Amino acid sequence: MFRTRRLRANANIRNMVRETRISKDSLIYPMFFEEGENIFEEIESMPGQYRMSIDRCDGVIKELLDVGVKSVILFGIPKNKDEVGSEAYHDHGIVQEAIRYIKKNYPDMYVIGDVCMCEYTSHGHCGILKGHDVDNDTTIKYVAKIALSQVEAGADMVAPSDMMDGRVGEIRKLLDANGYKNIPIMSYSAKYASAFYGPFRAAADSAPAFGDRKTYQMDVHNIREALKEVYDDVDEGADIVMVKPAMSFLDVVAKVKEITDIPVAAYSVSGEYAMVKSAAKNGFIDEEKIMCEMAVSAFRAGADIYITYYAKELAKCIDKGLIG
Ligand code: PBG
Repeated sequence: MFRTRRLRANANIRNMVRETRISKDSLIYPMFFEEGENIFEEIESMPGQYRMSIDRCDGVIKELLDVGVKSVILFGIPKNKDEVGSEAYHDHGIVQEAIRYIKKNYPDMYVIGDVCMCEYTSHGHCGILKGHDVDNDTTIKYVAKIALSQVEAGADMVAPSDMMDGRVGEIRKLLDANGYKNIPIMSYSAKYASAFYGPFRAAADSAPAFGDRKTYQMDVHNIREALKEVYDDVDEGADIVMVKPAMSFLDVVAKVKEITDIPVAAYSVSGEYAMVKSAAKNGFIDEEKIMCEMAVSAFRAGADIYITYYAKELAKCIDKGLIG
């Protein structure tokens, strides 16, 4: 009989034979920047997460660096929205200014710009409308402009989340033409039309005014299509591919990991966070253990990078030796 329990006898041996190792270096923390001053407002559906103005962000950034989280991905909430989301590519838009501020004051922080239009358009869709649908080929020109404006402001990386076809190639072309050959693109390659984004949309005020995102985000029933998205994005020059959401899509993470040699990111989205928070508040689950288990499972499935609202808490769990 093979006694599998021999290697489970105590923490030393269990830790020695761990198959999955987690490092703080692999964590990315999402932040919501709102245009204005003196704003630090808790997001109702995401307790512990805040919409903040630039002048109030220092505490959060310092805390992240203190615990060893060195990457953030930024979302913007502009004062004014319009049909074409002009604030998304404005030189002094909220995200561009936030990037400038962080890179100037905290040069050790790696700053990623989320590239999308839904937080900036009056209709809440991720692109330029033609009738009631998003026009792909017009949108990718805008998406590339947004990416360039973020890079000009100092972003270390851009992450397009709009799900238009051909946007990675369009961004790569524009960045290269402007002398930014070395700026990587992390593509939201397999981004599903998921109900798990609900709390984010409330936070970023980005729910579509009509219809849904099913003509551009993926059908949750599909996995071969996710691989096609990944192949296309790699062909177009993506440096990292992402699967989103994480928890209910770890089969996709595992498959994507099999077919590509470039790093794979998994985004544990707002709905995942909100579920854990509310269950924990009721005393139904142990928040710390659950967040650890969710993180471990994403890495076990094959993720190299984990984007999570729990980044800071996970870093502390790593310090405590709970995971890692
Ligand atoms: C922008 C974007 C969304 C999220 C990340 N980028 C919302 C959406 O597609 O509706 C969701 C993140 C989360 O739920 O935590 N397109």
